[in-house]
Amino acid sequence: MARITVDGKIIEAQEGASVLQACLQNGIYIPHLCHLEGVGDPPASCRLCFVEINGKKKPVASCNTPVVEGLEIWTDGEAVRRLQRTGLRLLLSVHKVECKVCPSNRKCPLQDMARFLGVRLKPRRFQHIHRPRPRLADSGLFDYRPDRCVLCGQCIRVCEERNRLPLLTFAMRGFDTVVASFPREDLEPGMDCRLCLACVDTCPVSALSFRPDRKDVPR
Ligand code: SF4
Ligand code: SF4
Ligand code: FES
Repeated sequence: MARITVDGKIIEAQEGASVLQACLQNGIYIPHLCHLEGVGDPPASCRLCFVEINGKKKPVASCNTPVVEGLEIWTDGEAVRRLQRTGLRLLLSVHKVECKVCPSNRKCPLQDMARFLGVRLKPRRFQHIHRPRPRLADSGLFDYRPDRCVLCGQCIRVCEERNRLPLLTFAMRGFDTVVASFPREDLEPGMDCRLCLACVDTCPVSALSFRPDRKDVPR
């Protein structure tokens, strides 16, 4: 175990764990989205989990900063909060906020972060970007909502972890980026999305949902 200081308080953390994990395990909240506990290294793509570390000039992503004995960390500096608010506003600018009809309502990381950072959940009209809505390449089993998807990549990573090869991937670029699925012809026997659905369970914003009505769809 290593001893680190977070916001002036000394905590014990597993050496080699990330600063984000150490803080969360000790009840210190850091906004985050692409980190998925127990599933490999985070891609550090959501750019929300910033902290300041003594000796470093700029805030760093806490999810890919390992715990080292003696580290001194600040989670709530002005620069950190500015970056987090900007990151969250960017996500919300492409996310259709419709909490009342959303299955993620009340267990949603966007709601939690907006509350924590004092950011408006529903951006003003001119700050919102309407995205085109291409569907998953093979959308037979799933409904995919690009206007909800925040591109956290959790579905892709959990699928890869569970099935040893990802059946999902990011497709296209920039504002057009969506989650798409690979063709399924080469799946090993016994591999069947209907028996897994880890991606649907993992999606934090209900951008993926199962379509039980499509029993006819080949796996
Ligand atoms: S994902 Fe969260 S913020 Fe978005 S509509 Fe659902 S509950 Fe609301
Ligand atoms: S579908 Fe859900 S889990 Fe997958 S990238 Fe989009 S928001 Fe993340
Ligand atoms: S959780 Fe660290 S960048 Fe997403």
